[in-house]
Amino acid sequence: MNYSIKTDNITILAIESSCDETSASVCRDGIILSNIIANQNVHAQYGGVVPELASRAHLQNIVPVVDTALKNANVELREIDAFAFTQTPGLIGALLVGSGFSKSLALACNKPLIAVHHMQAHVLGNLIENPKPSFPFLCLTVSGGHTQIIFAESALEMKVIGETIDDAAGEAFDKTAKLLGLPYPGGPLIDKYAISGNPDRFRFAEPQVPDLNFSFSGLKTSVLYFMQKEMAQNSKFIEDNFNDLCASVQKTIVHILLKKLTSAALQTGIKTICLAGGVSANSALRKGLEAIGKENNWQTYIPAFEYCTDNAAMIAIAAFHKYKSGDFSSLSEQVKARASW
Ligand code: KG4
Ligand code: ZN
Repeated sequence: MNYSIKTDNITILAIESSCDETSASVCRDGIILSNIIANQNVHAQYGGVVPELASRAHLQNIVPVVDTALKNANVELREIDAFAFTQTPGLIGALLVGSGFSKSLALACNKPLIAVHHMQAHVLGNLIENPKPSFPFLCLTVSGGHTQIIFAESALEMKVIGETIDDAAGEAFDKTAKLLGLPYPGGPLIDKYAISGNPDRFRFAEPQVPDLNFSFSGLKTSVLYFMQKEMAQNSKFIEDNFNDLCASVQKTIVHILLKKLTSAALQTGIKTICLAGGVSANSALRKGLEAIGKENNWQTYIPAFEYCTDNAAMIAIAAFHKYKSGDFSSLSEQVKARASW
């Protein structure tokens, strides 16, 4: 279908449902008017996201979440110029809920549909607030499912220049937290206990991965073996050294991340550096980035926490840029578990 493209007052309703947050956002001319996020507590008891339960929770949440997003933005459905949804990557059943809902709205309102790449949207989350980074910039996206260094030339042109070959940084936090007996997701708890711990107390081997890629699966094993060895001497080793263990694990993960980010900045000559994804909430990563940024004369950007974790505001911003270039999707557009760039 051909749609006439508006040049101002562009109002977009975006839906994010790729994992375990059901979110809807209304944005006008790149300014976020609302961003509603419903978390799914149902997964905590299983120690990770259960796909089937995520889909069901999305189905329960989607109507009230979209309704609240419109109400809080003070926008009527008939004022929406385009409907956006997360197309990839994510859990298929979860993605289908958001895409099906968006498609139905687009069809009923006879407005364009915009499919958004979740990882590109994470990067563009940096454009939500002021001051905004100017292109080109690098973005370290660190979440429970992804660890990537992105070279962003513009809002529509990005490439992955480094990524994890196994676990994501968030998984490294969550899996080591589990070894320490913490509930899922353990990342924020490691951060909390690390504040009172000594980060230099224990050392864990860092992986040697070529180029700008990362590997985190070895860290979990190295922490496990270390603790088993120590527990053979002192069965209360974890209890006795809890905060120091958290601080040391956190220091290792942050060091691995910032080392590759620094290499990426040197290789590309880019000094505008952004963070994205849930792990960017980590206090040591934020402080570390700030310190390295000062040393290297970088301009650094970290979105507010609500725009770092999964949210529909970042989908709306990405969709706004796609709208301006007329990049619309057909109603038969498919969702995809794995993303290509
Ligand atoms: O982006 P996100 O909300 O969801 C996806 O994975 O897509 O990221 C969640 C991840 C989890 O692994 C969680 O443990 C981690 O972000 N995380 C943290 C912190 N806050 C969230 N990890 C370390 N320190 C934190 N403060
Ligand atoms: Zn995400």
